[in-house]
Amino acid sequence: VAVVGVQHGYEGLVKDECVPMDAASVGGIISMGGTILRSARSLEFRERAGREVAMANLRKRKIEGLVVIGGDGSLTGAYTLAEEFGFPVMGVPGSIDNDIAGTDYSIGFDTAVNTAVEAIDRIRDTAYSHDRVFVIEVMGRRNGFIAIEAGLAGGAEAVLIPEVPLDLARVCSELASSAKRGKLSSIIVVAEGAARAADVKAFLEKQTGYEARDLVLGHMQRGGSPTAFDRVLALKLGAFATRKLLEGHSGEMAGVEGVRLVSQPLGYVLGTTTGVDRARLELIRAMSI
Ligand code: F6P
Repeated sequence: VAVVGVQHGYEGLVKDECVPMDAASVGGIISMGGTILRSARSLEFRERAGREVAMANLRKRKIEGLVVIGGDGSLTGAYTLAEEFGFPVMGVPGSIDNDIAGTDYSIGFDTAVNTAVEAIDRIRDTAYSHDRVFVIEVMGRRNGFIAIEAGLAGGAEAVLIPEVPLDLARVCSELASSAKRGKLSSIIVVAEGAARAADVKAFLEKQTGYEARDLVLGHMQRGGSPTAFDRVLALKLGAFATRKLLEGHSGEMAGVEGVRLVSQPLGYVLGTTTGVDRARLELIRAMSI
């Protein structure tokens, strides 16, 4: 089987940016973050006319199947190619947000969480030594998966996520009661989709009078050397998706459920919303302030 890499995602399919790849093409990249093929958002591919150009390029190159790695947008593109043109596609979940149905984990989440936890650990030193409240904003426009995991592993006193209505008054009263018990430092993790760290910090300072600081981790979480978990996950899902494609599967996404590799229809994956794990929320409450 010959393999080509498509550069810049769907934009590269439309512009016919393909490079031949073999085993040597991926030599030495296992410890790297980002993508050697690069990525892009394609406006043209969103239109039928653009997708027809992409299909013409695929046919011209005699490409017989596509493995698409990415989140919601990338997988929607793959689904559309399979539905509109009957083109064989297999999806692989890649997103730090971990908000893709049909898999327990998407590639990048574990690395992003570990990066956030390392930052929280460093911040805690100042928080504790200087009796301060720190509000740390992590990524997650639409969900709080990174915030929950990083908050739990980082021992945060409170975690604010988009799935739960924001109740800063409650955070203030919990801060006050822990101060009464002599605990003067706290870490509050906020998902970017729930509130801005600067606003939370300003509110808490005004209401409680404690000295607070805010920090946005931002794209720090999207780069850097992947954790062992993410490396192995990517290898397993990539190999599994390719095997499925060669076996004739199409319009599906490779995923991991428990210890099992699974392949589920993209229609199901894209039409299903992943909810927060109530047990984790309970744990955060039990550990908080
Ligand atoms: O979708 C993944 C994600 O990391 C979000 O959590 C974050 O809000 C967004 O991407 C950032 O995107 P951009 O790089 O376009 O600012």
